[in-house]
Amino acid sequence: MGSPRIGVVGATGAVGTITLELLAGRGYQVRAFASARSAGTRLPFGDGDILVEEATHEALGAGDIDLFLFSVGTGASRELVPVAAGAGAICVDKSSAYRLVDGYPLVVPEVNGARALEALERDRIVANPNCCTIPLTCVLKPLHDAAGLRRVRVATYQSVSGAGAQRMEALRAEPTAEHNLVMDWSWEGDESDEESKLRAETRKILELPELPISATCVRVPVLVGHSEAIWIELEEPLSPERATELLQQAPSVRVLELPAFPTPRDAAGGDEVLVGRIRRDTASENGLALFLANDNLRKGAALNAIQIADLLLGVAAEPSR
Ligand SMILES: NC(=O)c1ccc[n+]([C@@H]2O[C@H](COP(=O)([O-])OP(=O)(O)OC[C@H]3O[C@@H](n4cnc5c(N)ncnc54)[C@H](OP(=O)(O)O)[C@@H]3O)[C@@H](O)[C@H]2O)c1
Repeated sequence: MGSPRIGVVGATGAVGTITLELLAGRGYQVRAFASARSAGTRLPFGDGDILVEEATHEALGAGDIDLFLFSVGTGASRELVPVAAGAGAICVDKSSAYRLVDGYPLVVPEVNGARALEALERDRIVANPNCCTIPLTCVLKPLHDAAGLRRVRVATYQSVSGAGAQRMEALRAEPTAEHNLVMDWSWEGDESDEESKLRAETRKILELPELPISATCVRVPVLVGHSEAIWIELEEPLSPERATELLQQAPSVRVLELPAFPTPRDAAGGDEVLVGRIRRDTASENGLALFLANDNLRKGAALNAIQIADLLLGVAAEPSR
């Protein structure tokens, strides 16, 4: 049997280009897709380049790709993912189209990787969480397992690349134009969709449907790398020293100790969730405060989806009994 065939849909975008970079040399056969706007162009891939094909229903529904990684936005995902899944492909979708829909696994491999396997028994669609939810759950999970989460508060500092390739270009072209904090989200009453996603997705992944979480999400004039200030209230006491030990052992997490602290610049281009400033939060019982930074395009999006793909293709490749 040849190596698995992967289709990257949205290959020209901020997440798609990193997806191609991470897939090169991983042993997969890769094809790249985007809209009609960029069909026929070529993108760097490994030591050479790769043709961008138009993501038509015919191309995605041809049944000649084992797994698609989608990073095309919610509307396009709702249209195209069912076409690819209907033709038998596994689909890992990075938009919010399926994340909170019952029956679709929402997966961070280090936290709830086994959930991804459920997709193989259903309609083969797995959702990839929001770029702030992924690092947050990587950090919360070991602390919850040790001492039980009672309440979480988080303030985000999200980079411009979270809003896509065009916004990155705008910041590169005119760096001072974006020298401000912005809240460029959709509003649901007095809360942003980014804030409600962070709460609902974290609850789903940790399987804590009632966990109180409040978030304030802000975009900052940084190109790549999201940061989060986190305040946690636990059921049981947990010292900052013990929390540090637990996070040092957690997969995909790297703890920095003062005078070092996590910054988006240090996180950008890396695969780890950087965590630091781990300290007691005296404002709540059994409180801890900490700070993280993570590359939103890598572990926050492309890498997490590729890890799901690795997991599912490894399982799918096993001989059936
Ligand atoms: N950026 C992040 O940090 C991040 C993190 C997690 C999740 N996500 C999610 O990933 C998705 C993409 O984000 P992004 O930041 O990469 O956006 P982006 O830079 O704007 O890229 C969008 C990509 O989708 C393609 N596309 C748009 N409409 C399409 C259609 N109808 N058919 C086929 N391709 C289409 C575009 O192709 P053309 O170039 O041909 O227009 C482009 O390749 C979004 O759902 C976003 O929420 C992003």
